[in-house]
Amino acid sequence: MTAFTVCLVLVVAAAGLLRWRRPAWCWMTFGVTLASLRVLIRYASVMDACGLTVPPSRWRLALARVTNRPIPESRPPRILRFRPSRTGLVLRLGLRPGQDAFDIAAASDRLRHSFSMYGVTSREVRSGVVEVRMTGYDVLKRVQMPAKLDTRPMRVPVALREDGSVHYRDYRAVPHALTLGATESGKSVYQRNLVVGLAPMDVALVGIDCKRGVELFPLARRFSALADNPDTAAELLDALVSRMEGVYQLIRAEQRITADVPDAEIAADIWDLPEHLRPTPVVVLVDEVAELALFASKDEEKRRDRIITALVRLAQLGRAAGIYLEICGQRFGSELGKGITMLRAQLTGRTAHRVNDETSANMAFGDISPDAVLAAIQIPAELRGIAIAGDSTGGWHRIRAPHTSLRQAVNTCNRHADRTPALPELAAFRPELTSPSEAPVPLSKTAAATA
Ligand SMILES: Nc1ncnc2c1ncn2[C@@H]1O[C@H](COP(=O)(O)OP(=O)(O)OP(=O)(O)O)[C@@H](O)[C@H]1O
Ligand SMILES: [Mg+2]
Repeated sequence: MTAFTVCLVLVVAAAGLLRWRRPAWCWMTFGVTLASLRVLIRYASVMDACGLTVPPSRWRLALARVTNRPIPESRPPRILRFRPSRTGLVLRLGLRPGQDAFDIAAASDRLRHSFSMYGVTSREVRSGVVEVRMTGYDVLKRVQMPAKLDTRPMRVPVALREDGSVHYRDYRAVPHALTLGATESGKSVYQRNLVVGLAPMDVALVGIDCKRGVELFPLARRFSALADNPDTAAELLDALVSRMEGVYQLIRAEQRITADVPDAEIAADIWDLPEHLRPTPVVVLVDEVAELALFASKDEEKRRDRIITALVRLAQLGRAAGIYLEICGQRFGSELGKGITMLRAQLTGRTAHRVNDETSANMAFGDISPDAVLAAIQIPAELRGIAIAGDSTGGWHRIRAPHTSLRQAVNTCNRHADRTPALPELAAFRPELTSPSEAPVPLSKTAAATA
């Protein structure tokens, strides 16, 4: 009896410790079984209490009357599929007549409390079918990306969503994106994750980092071109525009449309070209974009106009030539001068980290979703890296990228340095390479003290 009590106390203590220190392990060991049992056993009563049941149909009532059976009970949505996952539970529900996806979405907070889960979200899969994703713990507190990821060319698993699914940055679906956020909100870490995700792919990376290159220059071995001040940035962007024109000429030359060329073989962008002819796609990462748009003198104003015009041209025409823009900044509104809102309109992907005022959030989501604006303002200051990511359909998600340190990013870039393509048009902007041991990576306080 005493041994049994000691074992029980030990198990409870271990569970408590796991839950506190390693919620993901706790979920995988105890949580998933307990939560599955709780949801399956209490499903009907919870749905009834949350107002998600429908009264019996007329024919069921008539049948009960004819056969002299008790009146049938109200029925909850049918469970079509039940799947425990690494972070929670996923249920596919078949709606009953008269129910809609909004009913489930509106009851998600009630479901969360009733099933004692950390979070509940829902989305319509198709007419009559809704997927409810429940998370067992706060998956954004300490982000751990799943080991198995759905990798495709130009699709980077960059962050985790609050429902436990992976958030991808898909350059072919959403060519250009804007990332906003107040200072210290996590923009550069997000961008660093993108670089880490893109490093093993067949892609050329081009960086413009007007913070004198502190964020991107340590990753130089994987970059085909880098600029750390507005003057170089202006020349680099001009070179990219001429590359774009060259790629269009190549596509034109390949089109050679005659009546016997099948529709599917007519090239309209680089992805339609045969692989041996296809130019390497280019991702242009711009950190602190406002630095490119500010000016103090007439000369600087001319340079600014040149930069913004080149960016607008790349945003308007770059996709088919395989040039994708990834722009980061603290604010990106009309106060930065003419051409900015035109550029913003071309940046389909929107991500907002913590912002301090509604106007900044509006710059990201004002034209997409008012709910997302509110969610971006509500991100607490202490949760750096949490962001709202909108998609072109007006939907949005809370996401957080894993905390990749600069050292980890440098290591990944160095490992894939041999994949860095040399683009002839951008040869003048190729960063001078130092050996990895000399690469300027930050030292910890202790390392700095002993150095
Ligand atoms: N996803 C994350 N998870 C955990 N911590 C994070 C995350 N993102 C950022 N941080 C923390 O926030 C700090 C600031 O992040 P970051 O440098 O990306 O901010 P920023 O928005 O680029 O700021 P600035 O505008 O000043 O350049 C990081 O040093 C890190 O400690
Ligand atoms: Mg930054």
